[in-house]
Amino acid sequence: MSHKVTPESPIGIFDSGIGGLTVVKAVQAALPQEKIIYFGDTARVPYGPKSQVTIRKYAADDTAILMRYQPKMIIVACNTVSALAFDVVEKACGTIPVIGVLKAGARLAVQATKNNRIGVIGTQATICSNAYAATINRLDPETQVFSKACPLFVPLAEEGMIDHPATKLIAADYLREFEANGIDTLVLGCTHYPILRRIIEETLCPAIRIIDSAEAIALRTRELLEESGMLNNTGEHASPHLMVSDLPQKFSRIYKLFMGSELPDVELVEV
Ligand code: DGL
Repeated sequence: MSHKVTPESPIGIFDSGIGGLTVVKAVQAALPQEKIIYFGDTARVPYGPKSQVTIRKYAADDTAILMRYQPKMIIVACNTVSALAFDVVEKACGTIPVIGVLKAGARLAVQATKNNRIGVIGTQATICSNAYAATINRLDPETQVFSKACPLFVPLAEEGMIDHPATKLIAADYLREFEANGIDTLVLGCTHYPILRRIIEETLCPAIRIIDSAEAIALRTRELLEESGMLNNTGEHASPHLMVSDLPQKFSRIYKLFMGSELPDVELVEV
């Protein structure tokens, strides 16, 4: 299924919940004139501990919701879907280009490492899929990848516990092993993790470079739109259209934490 696109068509972005707002923020900063349609599957977050069959079904639903808006491209702002169901999204998009945070993060990490030792943290599903290591090794077979699932980071970010002693303890426990394996680069392989970036940075050796897949995908989006002549040059500064599958009470506080601005109108969508 495809449709006619123009440079003024929106960019569709989705995640399992609100983690993908870190991608919305990065894309908005890099391309302020683009219209963004965002869907966060807040009713079914987290995806990370779920099976591949379920994640693939959710990915198809999420894509279908965005396709109603006839986007010019889709950004998979969820590493878990990028790792386990990218082909499902591509199939549902037809000729509309799809990019995912995983490949963008892997590319930037390979460019950044000097000693060819890269750490990756992500959800259980992302790390078990081995997709980061496979993608990094396709780009550079010499690079060694050290992966660690950090499942508790997702609820800690969703709870807004960005400066809490419990988060510091959990970060110290999860990240300890990166001291021994000599990585010089660490990929935040889950779009929720940039929310906890300060604690992650404070826990790690300061020489380790952190790769935020949200920033990586914003760079890739610009390249892709430039290459295809699809940049929106109308100069209008549109605020994103937000859709969620559930509107939790704490949503507006969490939105403010992720985006640094007040919550705009949100549309509730049934999944
Ligand atoms: N934000 C999602 C990702 O990047 C994970 C959160 C979840 O477990 O749903 O993988």
